[in-house]
Parts: sequence; structure tokens; C-alpha cells
Amino acid sequence: MSKNHNGLKPSEITPEEVFFNRREILRSAVALGLVPAVATTAHGAPLPPSGEFTALQNWPGSLSEAPNSYEEITSYNNYYEFGTGKGDPVRNAHTLETDPWSVSVTGEADKTGTYTLEDILAPHTFEERIYRFRCVEAWSMIVPWVGFPLADLLARFEPNSEARYVQFFTLNDRRQMPGLRSPVLEWPYREGLTIEEAMHPLALMTVGVYGKVLPNQNGAPLRLIVPWKYGFKSIKSIVRIHFGRRQPQTSWNMAAAREYGFYSNVNPNVDHPRWSQATERRLGGGLFAARIPTLMFNGYAEEVAHLYSDLDLVRNY
Ligand code: MTE
Repeated sequence: MSKNHNGLKPSEITPEEVFFNRREILRSAVALGLVPAVATTAHGAPLPPSGEFTALQNWPGSLSEAPNSYEEITSYNNYYEFGTGKGDPVRNAHTLETDPWSVSVTGEADKTGTYTLEDILAPHTFEERIYRFRCVEAWSMIVPWVGFPLADLLARFEPNSEARYVQFFTLNDRRQMPGLRSPVLEWPYREGLTIEEAMHPLALMTVGVYGKVLPNQNGAPLRLIVPWKYGFKSIKSIVRIHFGRRQPQTSWNMAAAREYGFYSNVNPNVDHPRWSQATERRLGGGLFAARIPTLMFNGYAEEVAHLYSDLDLVRNY
């Protein structure tokens, strides 16, 4: 594999055993139905290459910081459908059934309908992208996600000129998700982006972490990662995508509008009503690890600031 712009080979970023494990990982991906063993879908579209994760490219924008461990990324989670404690999702999310899985596409697009997960994934090449992930609660991680540009998926549905926003919904099934019995949020969990945000090349439709299929607690089989926004925008286990004309409802805004706005861009200059957002703590450094400054747009300002040039970011938090 080639070197990225930091001059690092991917094997220097992602721990070696993960790279060596990829053959095994792919086998489990096939077993999970994420990468079907047969090389075409019902539509005859080519699937990601099988045999090796050769389609797993290392995104040139990868950071030089070492990623958090697989253990840290997959055992300290927010997934309220499986409980509100950070350790609840890893304990409880085994009841989520990710195969078969389908996604319905509705609203202002020409190719609406219901797509199987295989249809969704078939034409895409997976990339590894090492992104910063910053939770509104002021902890952060560096994560090697695996996915493909959200823009490439949305374009396939041919949104029309009325489509100004995209809304995403998580599965809403009490049988599989014990946390839904609690009214802590209005279910299903939902999130939204402007169409320009959704089409930005950094927005990643995510299927894996560390070269492995996403574990349930991280939002299997399909979740969004929007690295310049607080983690709660990165909705998990997506079952519906809606193209709309008006700014859509989002779960955290519905729950506490004063605290969580529609945009939710990482912004160290705007305090959350109950705490400062100026610093963060990298997970894994221990409780007494030094807090580090939070970067505007989580460090992705160069890439995304232009999307908000007309917005007052204090009012539009
Ligand atoms: N998606 C759903 N469906 N339900 C949730 O509770 N929590 C969000 C986001 N996506 C959440 C969700 C929040 S608050 C965060 S910080 C991230 O998921 C956490 O992602 P991670 O567990 O992979 O770190």
C-alpha cells in the first residue's frame, strides 16, 4: 500500500495484528452477510473485492496521532437504545439483529424505495479513514473507521432540486432494543444534515472499525460518521434515509433544544449551557490525563468552514 501524506504507511498507523487479521475478518464479514460470498447482488452490481481487504484504502487525510485501541472504541459507547451507561451498549447490544437488514429511502428523490444492505454496499469501495471523534460530553477518540463517502450513496438515489436536507432514522424495535422502554429520548433516534453537509466528502457511511465489521454497540450494520460535528450527529444502525425540503427534527434537539442545536458543529468558542467546550480528554489517557484544546470543527475547519460562511455560529450551534 502507498504512503499517505504524513509519510506513514498504513501499517504504521493501524496496529499490525489488525492488518494481519484481515483475512480472518473478511471471513467473518462474509459470515455476517456484510460482504456476500457471491460476487454479485440481485442487480448484478459488482461487490467489494473479496478474498482480502484490498479495497480497504487508507485515506490520505489520516491523522498522525495514534488511534485509540479497539477495546476503547468498542466498550465505551453511547447507544441509548441499549442503555444510557457507557458500558451498557457492549453488554446489551447482542440482541440487535443485523442480518437481514434493509434501508428505506423516502422523500425528494427519484430512486426512493427499500434497499437491502447488500444493494446499499455493492458498488462501493471501502476506505479506512482515521478520524477524530469528539463527543459533546468532552471526551474524544481517534478512530480508524471503515466506510465509503455518504455522498456516493446519496447520489445513487438521485435527490431532486427540492431536497435541501437529509434525515436519518435508527431502527425502532423494542424487542431488540431494551433501552426503548425508557422515554429518555423520543424514538426512533433521528438526525439530520443539510444536503451540502451530507454531500461533503468527509461524511462517511461507516460499516467497520479497525478493519472489522462494526460491532453492534458501534452502530452495526450501517452508521454515519460526521467528523466535524459532535458525536451524537453520527447516527447508528440506520434503517431510513429521508430527503426533505425543511430542516428536519433531530433527537437531541427535540430532547433539549437549548443545549443541542441542529448544526452541532464542534465549536470550542461556544459554551454548552452547562459546561465549557474549549477542551477535551482523549479516551485512554486515564482520568488524570491532561485536557487538550478542542479544535474548531474538530480540526476539520480547512475542509468544512466554507459550509457555514453565512451562518452565525453562536446562534446556529
Ligand atoms: N445513535 C443512536 N441510534 N443512538 C444513540 O444513542 N448516540 C450518539 C451517536 N449515535 C447514539 C447514536 C452519541 S451521543 C455518540 S457520542 C455516538 O453515537 C457514540 O458513538 P460510539 O459509541 O461509536 O463511540
